[in-house]
Amino acid sequence: MTEAACDKKVDIVLEGMTVISPVSSGKAETVTVIDKGTVAIGCGKILYAGPSPAPPEFRSAKKRIDASGMIALPGFVNAHTHTAMTLLRGYADDMVLMEWLEEKIWPIEAHLDSEDVYWGTMLACIEMIRAGVTTFADQYFFMDAAAKAVRDTGIRACLARGLIGASPDSSRALQENIDLYKAWHGEADGRITVMFGPHAPYTCPLDFLEKVMAAAEEYDAGMHIHLSETRGEVEESKARHGGMSPIELMDSIGLFEFRTLAAHCVHVSPKDIEILSAKGVGVAHNPTSNMKLASGIAPVPAMLKAGVKVGLGTDGASSNNNLDLLEEARLAAFLHKLAENDPTVIPAGQALAMATLGGAKAMGMDSEMGSLEPGKKADLILLDVNKPHMHPRHDLISHIIYSARADDVATVIINGQTVMEDGVLVGVDEQEVLAKAEERAKALVAKA
Ligand code: NI
Repeated sequence: MTEAACDKKVDIVLEGMTVISPVSSGKAETVTVIDKGTVAIGCGKILYAGPSPAPPEFRSAKKRIDASGMIALPGFVNAHTHTAMTLLRGYADDMVLMEWLEEKIWPIEAHLDSEDVYWGTMLACIEMIRAGVTTFADQYFFMDAAAKAVRDTGIRACLARGLIGASPDSSRALQENIDLYKAWHGEADGRITVMFGPHAPYTCPLDFLEKVMAAAEEYDAGMHIHLSETRGEVEESKARHGGMSPIELMDSIGLFEFRTLAAHCVHVSPKDIEILSAKGVGVAHNPTSNMKLASGIAPVPAMLKAGVKVGLGTDGASSNNNLDLLEEARLAAFLHKLAENDPTVIPAGQALAMATLGGAKAMGMDSEMGSLEPGKKADLILLDVNKPHMHPRHDLISHIIYSARADDVATVIINGQTVMEDGVLVGVDEQEVLAKAEERAKALVAKA
């Protein structure tokens, strides 16, 4: 069906709610509030988002949702996670990053198989849908299985095969990333995007990164990488590479000529920030993970001021330990106020914009999602605000960031399809997922 024909067909109309959304063309903190609004959806896209009554062509639809007493928001974007790590939630906590990785996480990950990743990703997907996350960026293993879970739950994802260039099977891993691209890029009604996933400069030698870049160039794909998460990583890079930070090093080899999504960017210099801004690198800020692993505080206000595209991520569930993006938005606001000794830093509107449009920008997908604007994919959520902690209604943007909870999310629509309605997941047997994930996680721990 052509897009023009599509535009005439309205599948869902949501009415009566407050419509809150960042604006693509606005400043970082520009968020609009429409008190009594309508959103019309057709062919998986937003056809109208504005005041009621909507123009006549958007008033009748196959399905009408009376959303009085709710807030409609663009879905949250989790710009960095490792979904199947849900299986390791609570398995190893309160440890130093390198010991945590080397003694607990990497040894148990060596036993993972595709069944584990499928059920771990299913668990992650339903947890995220329940928390209003409509898109996530993932970098992990057995990504075919992760792609199947994305297909089966209705969520949107950017998937990358995590590549450890220093490991003996790095060539096979890179081939798996290429195969993932060929099999899944653009699949699941266009909900799956495939990127390349070099883990980090400290786990990927430069000659391996050259091979990854060649593959990304061939398939016109983006990159998802961890950068400057710890102070030790930056010091090691400087010692090994003629004084260059990981960001200077990646810039020098041309990695940022690809659409790059960089997780963390905690220990960054003013020069690093200049590079991130000039090269349009997207940054996934993970406040909970950075706090839990005591990695440090990313200079997010300085990055935003310099025009860096900053979104929010949960990181994996074993360093968070949930996938609640609303919590990340609140903690980002709190952490930077404290760090800067300035309560005006990261106001609520800016935190909300980072959790939605900021993540879409960081992933290079803001022309498609991140705000409720005509022409964008219909990825939106309804928050039930008829609750004690959401009254009185002085400022709903403030309430979303400083008072709302993940379980206030009532309804989730992704790609124009309802995946949760009034708290009930559509087309997924939630109890089966919980049981299978529990079973796989127990068996995995028994192997370690
Ligand atoms: Ni990570």
